[in-house]
Order: sequence, then structure tokens, then C-alpha cells
Amino acid sequence: MLPHLPKQFNAVVTGANGGIGNAILQRLLSSSQPGHIIAVSRSPLGLQHDKITSVVADLTTSIGRHTLAEAAGDRPVHLLVNTIGMLHGSDLHIQPEKRLEQLSEEAFMRVMQVNAMTPAMLLAALKPCLQGKHPCIIASLSARVGSITDNGYGGWYSYRASKAAHNMLMKTAAIEIARLNKQAIVLCLHPGTTDTLLSKPFQARVPSDKLFTAEYVADRLLEVMAQRTPEETGSFWDWAGEPIEW
Ligand SMILES: NC(=O)c1ccc[n+]([C@@H]2O[C@H](COP(=O)([O-])OP(=O)(O)OC[C@H]3O[C@@H](n4cnc5c(N)ncnc54)[C@H](OP(=O)(O)O)[C@@H]3O)[C@@H](O)[C@H]2O)c1
Repeated sequence: MLPHLPKQFNAVVTGANGGIGNAILQRLLSSSQPGHIIAVSRSPLGLQHDKITSVVADLTTSIGRHTLAEAAGDRPVHLLVNTIGMLHGSDLHIQPEKRLEQLSEEAFMRVMQVNAMTPAMLLAALKPCLQGKHPCIIASLSARVGSITDNGYGGWYSYRASKAAHNMLMKTAAIEIARLNKQAIVLCLHPGTTDTLLSKPFQARVPSDKLFTAEYVADRLLEVMAQRTPEETGSFWDWAGEPIEW
């Protein structure tokens, strides 16, 4: 499955109740290679398995990250897949903006907190488990719209900015983690448009062959991880295994 990692590897999957997070969890369970998986979600996980430790925690809070750090201890984590992310939300009436006047300070800060700050703070919370001499893949889900070079359409200010910030934080963390674990591979991954709650309101104009199932995307993303080497740490890839410019 992941040739860079040992048999019976330890994994952490965040956003385990989300569309892509849950599909990655299921895909990991279908292989004999993982030994133990910590699955983190805000509400109880709708799945039980001998290999899974379910941690119910909101990783956007320090108490949530502390709960995860306690559960992980200082055992090596060989695979960390972060799938937490938001594009819209009912709490602050968050919707992707089309125009500058739609920017809201509160909504912007919330999207930044969930999409950019939380993944970085997650790496900080798990740092004792990521450093060392063990092979380690850290994959955090980004989005192509976070690429500044690729931005030809505009709009979606907060989401784009948060994913661009996510990418900068992961690239910076890749440099620090490389000093602490020479076998670490830190990746930003774009899943493609995937049929989940996140994309649901925006699927109308997506051609059916461009709207992927979460199961297909989970397979593709694990394959993209499998192809990477430590020399490629701090890079950005799409579901097809093509590099994306920052
Ligand atoms: N779907 C797409 O078309 C698409 C395209 C490009 C990039 N992406 C990225 O892929 C990742 C996974 O998205 P998905 O499609 O699987 O979406 P999803 O089904 O909505 O799952 C996202 C998960 O993120 C966590 N999350 C969302 N809002 C949160 C909040 N306010 N506080 C704490 N946790 C929160 C939740 O995890 P729990 O429920 O487990 O707590 C949620 O289930 C995201 O980073 C997204 O930006 C998706």
C-alpha cells in the first residue's frame, strides 16, 4: 500500500467523519499494512474496528489538540492524513465570496482558523511522534484554488487565502521536520472535486466525469503518497499525481 512505511504502521486520520477522511480510513482498513489507526472526529465515529482508536475532539481548539496528543503519546506516527477543511458553514453564514464587499471579518478568521491554523497546530501537537528516525508521511488536504499561480478565476477569497496559507505553513513545517526526521515526507494534496458535503452546493456546473466519489479519491491520494520520496518533502500534488505550482 505505502512502500515507504513499515508493516503494522501507526496512522492518524483527522476529519474521520468527513467524506474524504472517512473514505481514507476505510481504505486503510482494507489493507493489512496499517497496525493501528487513531481516527479523530468532532462527533463519535460511525465505525468500529480492532485497529481503530476513536478520539472525539475538535482540533480547532487547544483542548482538542491536547486530547489527541495524549492519545498519541510519544509513539511514532508513520502516517498522518489531515482532511479537516471548510468552504461553507451555517454557524457564521459562511459562503465562498464572489465579490470584495462580501468579505466578513468573522467568517474570514474562522476559515483561516480551520483550514490553515489547525493543520499547523496539529503538526505542533504531534511533533514528538513525527520526529525521529522512522519513515513518516504527513499529507494535508489542500485545494488547487490555493495555488496563487493557478488563480485565473478569482472569487472564494477566504477559502483561497486559507489554502494558500495552509500550503505555506506545510512547506515551512516540511523544512523544520526534515531536520528532525530525514525520512519524513510532508505533502499538500488536492483531491479534485469530490462528492462530499463540502462541495455539495457547488456541484451543479461540474461535469459528472469531473465529480469524483470519495472512495476513488481516497485510492488516488494514497497512490500519490505511495509514489513520493523524502527528497520531495514540502511539495503540492493533485489526485492524478501531477505537481501543482504554488
Ligand atoms: N470535496 C471537494 O471537492 C474538495 C476539493 C478540494 C479540496 N478539498 C479539501 O479536502 C478536505 C476534505 O474535505 P471533504 O470534501 O471530505 O469535506 P467534508 O466531508 O465536509 O469533511 C471535512 C471535515 O473537516 C472537519 N471540519 C469541517 N469544518 C470544521 C470545523 N469548523 N471545525 C472542525 N473541523 C471541521 C470535519 O471533520 P469531522 O466531522 O470528522 O470532525 C469535516 O467532516 C478539506 O480540506 C477540503 O478543503 C475538498
